[in-house]
Amino acid sequence: MKLAIVGTGYVGLVTGACFAEMGNEVICVDADATKISALEQGRIPIYEPGLQEFVKRNFEENRLSFTTDLAAAVERSLIIFIAVGTPQDRDGSADLSAVLAVAKDIGRLMNGYKVIVEKSTVPVGTAQKVRRVISAELKARGVDYQFDVVSNPEFLKEGTAIDDFMKPDRIVVGCDDVRVAELMKELYAPFVRTHHPIIIMDVVSAELTKYAANAFLATKISFINEIANICALTGADIAMVRQGIGSDPRIGHLFLFPGLGYGGSCFPKDMQALIHTARSHGYTPRVLEAAEAVNQDQRRLFVEQIRRYFGDDLKDKLFAVWGLSFKPGTDDMREAPSLTILSLLAERGARFKAYDPKAIDEAKKMLGGNKAVSFAKSCYDTLEGADALIINTEWTMFREPDFERMKTLLKQPVIFDGRNLYNPEKLAKLGFRYFYIGQKL
Ligand SMILES: NC(=O)c1ccc[n+]([C@@H]2O[C@H](COP(=O)([O-])OP(=O)(O)OC[C@H]3O[C@@H](n4cnc5c(N)ncnc54)[C@H](O)[C@@H]3O)[C@@H](O)[C@H]2O)c1
Repeated sequence: MKLAIVGTGYVGLVTGACFAEMGNEVICVDADATKISALEQGRIPIYEPGLQEFVKRNFEENRLSFTTDLAAAVERSLIIFIAVGTPQDRDGSADLSAVLAVAKDIGRLMNGYKVIVEKSTVPVGTAQKVRRVISAELKARGVDYQFDVVSNPEFLKEGTAIDDFMKPDRIVVGCDDVRVAELMKELYAPFVRTHHPIIIMDVVSAELTKYAANAFLATKISFINEIANICALTGADIAMVRQGIGSDPRIGHLFLFPGLGYGGSCFPKDMQALIHTARSHGYTPRVLEAAEAVNQDQRRLFVEQIRRYFGDDLKDKLFAVWGLSFKPGTDDMREAPSLTILSLLAERGARFKAYDPKAIDEAKKMLGGNKAVSFAKSCYDTLEGADALIINTEWTMFREPDFERMKTLLKQPVIFDGRNLYNPEKLAKLGFRYFYIGQKL
């Protein structure tokens, strides 16, 4: 099929590359000319495992192309995916300006029947807004092309995006027309040969499904963090409690890791947007609000642990920092807990030497102006002369480090682990003061 993907970010580029991999003819469009020209020269603007190979192969075999020219992409394509950003607006709602701007352009440019697919995460009612905007453009042009608007939320995870897209647990399609549903089923059929379901539903339910999925997972993270905080007060061992409940298949081990809380470009903004939607209908979503509050507190409590050990004044303290991205496997720094933690400690005068295997370039954009932070080329380079190590992200390379070497480099063997990577007894035997999430106060 001939497809256009508008917005060539984490979701748009993966979507485009994976559809091309299945033999479709895909044009990826972006308003950012620098990004498009980098892609045309074979440079991938983000880090996502496996993406480079997919993009290169499909580009070379002429199934995948890149452009800033939306007109050409719209004219050539039957199905147009909107995959632009929907960041948080000042009032917590989703900012739909990019989605609606693209819808308006599609209405201005379309030359026949089109299926317009919402791939971006958008609140209930957005498909209707997209429909209205396109109709208004068509009316102004004096043309009467037919079109359908479909909701097809994306559930991929950064770090495993290619695998998630190629082998999805489920595909959700919201549409009000049986023929369009058949078209979408045909498009996705190659991805569900192992019989994972394509779930067809109405548009509004599909829009809400994406928020409900993210809100559930975010709440699960806050739940285990709350239990960790109760462990800290009662002396229970969070690692054992986690095992004890995770083995119940109704609960499961996934998303049940105590830590610094959720971050990234989705959970925080999607929680806020869902809370905003509920409130705008006169309902107070108490579970969601509590999950958000616990998430914010989690970073503050970690800083508090550090402050309890070193005191209020951190002026002469240098911290080694392992991990900056909001989770392993990505260079995405949006809403990363590391940003809050470093900034709260910097307020007390602390300095940092930081390392991340993939996110240093992104981190420099966000922290580069902060004179308290310098960057190292390896995790061990951060340790020399540091008063303690802070772990923000559970990259695999941090899981079995050379502890003896670490001890010789650190000024004192102290670790504040925001991801509970190590066995506390082992670390004590090795001579470390080891602080982790849920540790007895
Ligand atoms: N990142 C994820 O893990 C993930 C997962 C599922 C869903 N989502 C959702 O998918 C959407 C996109 O997220 P993302 O992380 O890919 O965002 P992103 O910021 O990485 O990419 C968005 C892209 O859209 C482009 N863009 C903005 N306005 C445009 C316009 N008018 N015309 C053409 N291009 C335009 C930007 O230049 C950018 O390249 C969001 O709604 C997000 O919530 C993201």
